[in-house]
Amino acid sequence: MCGIIGINSNRPVSASIINSLKKLEYRGYDSAGIATLSKGLINEIKSEGRVDNLEKNSLIKNMEGTIGIGHVRWATHGAANSLNAHPHSSQNVSVVHNGIIENSTILKKFLINKGHKFKSQTDTEVIVHLITEHLKSEDMISSITKTLKQLHGSFALGIIFKDKPDLIVGARRGSPLAVGYGPNENYLGSDSYALKSMTNKVTYLNDGEFCIIKKDYVEFFNEGGTKINKKVLELSSEEEKYDKGDYKHFMAKEIEEQPTTLKNGIKEYVDTSNNDINIYNFPWKINEISSITLIGCGTAYHSCLMAKYWFEELTSLDVNIDIASEFRYRKNRFKKECLYVFVSQSGETADTFAALDLCKKNNMKTCAVVNVIESSIARDSDFVLPIHCGTEIGVASTKAFLGQILILYILALKLGLLKNDIERNLFLEKLKDLKELPKLVEQTLMTDNKIQSISTTFNEAKGSMFLGRGFSFPIALEGALKLKELSYIHAEGYPAGEMKHGPLALIEEGMPVVVLAPRDNYYKKTISNMQEVIARGAKVLLITNKSKDEIISENIWETIEVESTNDDLLPFLLTIPLQKLAYYSALKKGFDIDKPRNLAKSVTVE
Ligand code: AGP
Repeated sequence: MCGIIGINSNRPVSASIINSLKKLEYRGYDSAGIATLSKGLINEIKSEGRVDNLEKNSLIKNMEGTIGIGHVRWATHGAANSLNAHPHSSQNVSVVHNGIIENSTILKKFLINKGHKFKSQTDTEVIVHLITEHLKSEDMISSITKTLKQLHGSFALGIIFKDKPDLIVGARRGSPLAVGYGPNENYLGSDSYALKSMTNKVTYLNDGEFCIIKKDYVEFFNEGGTKINKKVLELSSEEEKYDKGDYKHFMAKEIEEQPTTLKNGIKEYVDTSNNDINIYNFPWKINEISSITLIGCGTAYHSCLMAKYWFEELTSLDVNIDIASEFRYRKNRFKKECLYVFVSQSGETADTFAALDLCKKNNMKTCAVVNVIESSIARDSDFVLPIHCGTEIGVASTKAFLGQILILYILALKLGLLKNDIERNLFLEKLKDLKELPKLVEQTLMTDNKIQSISTTFNEAKGSMFLGRGFSFPIALEGALKLKELSYIHAEGYPAGEMKHGPLALIEEGMPVVVLAPRDNYYKKTISNMQEVIARGAKVLLITNKSKDEIISENIWETIEVESTNDDLLPFLLTIPLQKLAYYSALKKGFDIDKPRNLAKSVTVE
């Protein structure tokens, strides 16, 4: 997943490109680069690491040119260094790329036999030399269409040409790409977030399309090279000036924002005056749906798993879930009565988008639960349920996770009511509890529960386990993922009842084990699983909810009590200490909390 920007203007563009690259760093931050056209030459500057390193390059401030492209990289082929950073250029062509060219090895051999010299280890460089090769005998448009046809895999491209000093070419297959329109200048960007600071008027390219961006107009073409018309969209102007404020990290701010974002979600979907839930313009009759399949990656997959428990509890629907990268290659049995729900914070995750595309090709009902409403997954789904969490910058998802499971819970409640699977009184009771949730999250956030000192033990361990049953099991997985991706410590989420089938062998003296055991129907069984690990020397951090009943166990290393509510909603509260545990572990280790190593916020490659 990388980020692309291009600007075609009548003013010098290098500074604006650098600023846009900073907004794109959430898509990858191994290395960065920029290329501009000036005095008949392609000028290229690249650097390892953050965009700041590129900006500090002394050559940048004298970089001329009113046409340029820029790139932030998350390495897929070739080490993360300046040599492999984009743009990649020949004498005549310079290219920035997001995606993976699957037949790059074969193409590279062909081009080397044609005398082309390669400098990098990247797949992207074959695009440069392929276009250069075609330009020897074809015009620009035909060189583009022929090159695109030869590429297998996914790409979003920005291309500039030495001999075409008035245009930028953009092309898209499988990785998002947008055009932005400004005053006497136009833009190319990986997504609307990169363009929002310069314009709120955008056009999204669809797969197979390419465009020619001049400073005063843009032309669009289909993959055959035929000109097509595309509509200009106005982005929502709610572009909040999103910064860290007084927080040290975006993640810290996003954890603390959760009461507000939950309030926003509830306000959006719960009709307080009529004591009902609004899923506006839901496009299907409830009797057209007899099953639901939820699909996502990473944290979004954990949201799907959490929703599975709620849908099973509240509706008679058959419920399936799948990891998007598995679903897209599985021999799926598509049934028209199935509603496919795609959960994605960014709405740009390549595997989830591919799973959506597969369902659309099979004429399935598709619904997106996303945070970015202008995203590819939102645009391509039949129906969208935005989670209204505002921008989430921290790569480790926090408020978006709670936002996702909130909307999925609301959907389960509503469909359960529509299908008469739950009584109206029970529905009203649950709605009443739901309205209290933001306050309970706020109280849980305020509970100073030693989590900071506890995190030291996790940092000193070579690994840890996170255990839960039923509604708590998805949260155990999510808590383990947070610790892994922030503090780089191995942590494994596991069903508490499964430990005796193998993983118990991992338990040794002093090993930290988180046990999620709220006072729900699984409490007693989980406590006995907890005793199994304590008996083998584990240091158990028990996370439960406040109750007048004593905890029926001893030799527990630490206990954290979250606020109490109905069983359905306890997962929201159990998540909070786990987010903080991961945050403080990483803080103590001095790691980059908002941009953990090897990761990116939007995984737009498979
Ligand atoms: C979550 O902390 C991770 N950053 C990652 O697992 C993320 O949830 C996953 O990549 C899916 O992203 P999406 O929600 O934007 O599709």
